[in-house]
Amino acid sequence: CTMTKQIVLKLLREHTEEFLSGEAISRQAGVSRAAVWKAVEQLRQEGYGIESVPNRGYRLTRVTARLRPEELSEQFRDRRIGRELLYFDTIDSTNNELKRRAVSGTVDGTVILADQQTRGRGRRGRSFVSPAGKGLYLSAALRPQCPLSEISTLTAWTAVALCDAVEAACGVRPGIKWPNDLVLQDKKLCGVLTEMELEAETGSLGYVIIGIGINLRQNEADFGPGVAPTAISLQQALGRAPDRTELAAAVLLSLDKLYQDFPERAQGYLERFRRDCLTLCRPVRVLYPGGTREGTAVDITEDFGLTVRWPDGTVEAVTSGEVSVRGLYGYV
Ligand code: BTN
Repeated sequence: CTMTKQIVLKLLREHTEEFLSGEAISRQAGVSRAAVWKAVEQLRQEGYGIESVPNRGYRLTRVTARLRPEELSEQFRDRRIGRELLYFDTIDSTNNELKRRAVSGTVDGTVILADQQTRGRGRRGRSFVSPAGKGLYLSAALRPQCPLSEISTLTAWTAVALCDAVEAACGVRPGIKWPNDLVLQDKKLCGVLTEMELEAETGSLGYVIIGIGINLRQNEADFGPGVAPTAISLQQALGRAPDRTELAAAVLLSLDKLYQDFPERAQGYLERFRRDCLTLCRPVRVLYPGGTREGTAVDITEDFGLTVRWPDGTVEAVTSGEVSVRGLYGYV
């Protein structure tokens, strides 16, 4: 049964350095040896690597790539973010699914999680390649009670929350490319696509969807030639990647905290954003609908805009749009 499987898994995870005998597991789990054997078989089918050596026992060699949404539902059922959590093996895009559900009145804090996306979307109409088992793809719906003008800062807040989550799960804090890419080794680790819906009659905010894609186990071939030069996974950067479910839990916890803090408690987010932002002090190229301008990023404004100094000495705050940064993602 699921319970036995989870206990066996927990024991194996606690003893990855040594073999655990079938007898020891059966004793600690309080089930028969046959039940242990059956649970090990089921776990193998789910993708866990479990080595077994006669007279020594079992040892966990590979943590599954499978997501465990039931654990997340359990952990988040009393929180605002994730109290409604839906999982899909395959979906076109978690943002799209949340939008479809929002039409019929999505619960505030609903989260959609998928193992793979067939039409993952990035900003500016780009696609976001989302192969099965390799990345974390999730979206959350929020209905923040704040003026529309404050909503644009939510993407920067999210970047800070995601840095907190990656640091909690991996012990390494990424940098931020303004406004909200997470960066390791000057390459993109994570992208955020924030979309919102206005209420037609009043023009007031209906809901915001925050879509998050974090690269965990991709290699160059998974990214493909177009993306590989500018993207990086945790596996590539650190030589290890956390368990996806554990990273998902850290992300949801950070988003839940953000949701409590937004928009009043901005100061801490602003401080972390300024500290982590890799764009500052670097030459930048700002893309406007009418053309491109080059300058230097000099500051982050109180509302998370990017202050740029142009060659003629004037400064301007950029609040949206595309900014490429020299030295990041290969822009020279
Ligand atoms: C970007 O960097 O351009 C944003 C990428 C956002 C990707 C995530 S993956 C989960 C969610 N669903 C999508 O279709 N996109 C976002």
